[in-house]
Amino acid sequence: MRGRCSNYSMRGILNTAVMIYVGLIGGQLLISGVVLADTGISPQRQAQLIHLLRQDCGSCHGMTLKGGLGSPLLPGNLIGKPDELLVDTILNGRPDTAMPPWRGELSPAEAAWLVEQLREGLTDAKH
Ligand code: HEC
Repeated sequence: MRGRCSNYSMRGILNTAVMIYVGLIGGQLLISGVVLADTGISPQRQAQLIHLLRQDCGSCHGMTLKGGLGSPLLPGNLIGKPDELLVDTILNGRPDTAMPPWRGELSPAEAAWLVEQLREGLTDAKH
């Protein structure tokens, strides 16, 4: 009799533990979903940003970003320049130069993503 009783309560504890575990995983998924939605950039937006980079940025920096009116933005040109500086330049422009601010067009996360692309280098696969 005793044995049966404790067996039941063991099962109860186990069930509760499983429920808490599932709840935790659910919460974690929810949290990572929210974080992704916050900083993640959708594939469509990424395509738009690459287009912007080639067309709008390219009008000064050159279609292949080798430089023109604007300085070259090839990976080798950015070595040693901190992300914050480059992101800040994109968002706020550079006073007394032709580099305009893009705050209105780009979020900080998008500017940071563009800097990442510049560091990797644009390839023909990216349109
Ligand atoms: C109207 C011309 C123009 C356009 C359009 C333009 N830039 Fe620039 N950009 C410049 C110039 C000029 C500089 C160099 C400023 C200086 O002398 O410090 C510059 C500098 C930069 C730098 C800093 C490079 C370094 O080596 O410090 C980054 C990064 C940059 N631009 C990114 C962009 C991006 C991304 C876009 C498009 C969203 C863009 N630019 C559009 C003219 C332009």
